[in-house]
Amino acid sequence: MKFLISSLALLFAGAAMAQISDEPNSSNCDGTTYSQKNIDDAATAALNYYANGQTVGKDGYPHQYKDYEGFDFSCSSPYLEFPILTSGTYDGGSPGADRVVIGSISSDETSAQYCALITHDGESGNSFGECTDS
Ligand SMILES: *[C@@H]1O[C@H](CO)[C@@H](O)[C@H](O)[C@H]1NC(C)=O
Repeated sequence: MKFLISSLALLFAGAAMAQISDEPNSSNCDGTTYSQKNIDDAATAALNYYANGQTVGKDGYPHQYKDYEGFDFSCSSPYLEFPILTSGTYDGGSPGADRVVIGSISSDETSAQYCALITHDGESGNSFGECTDS
């Protein structure tokens, strides 16, 4: 019981640590709308995995996003990309077409800035387009 309580305390402490700033109210990726909660879930998971040195899925998310498209983000590189879902949090399997990108990661890895949602939908080859925030 004591172990369970201290594990839960750690879990909550870990979850509360990651802070993502500048998230929009919602974002539309070629017809799929993500809520601020969807965005926060994905961005927070990305930062927590990064801070713990862990990745999920065969493509190892979160991983660095190199911005080959040359987007003009208001956050600073290095950027991390992580799959975003309309329900739940990505934990392996097919990553779908849409990603959250975070940057301006603090040196203690507890906070980061939202950069954008990007999508493969409506784009050619492997390139990304920017989703529309609102
Ligand atoms: C989010 O909603 C608030 C309140 O309606 C609004 O002031 C703000 O501009 C919205 N953010 C974006 C990115 O549109």
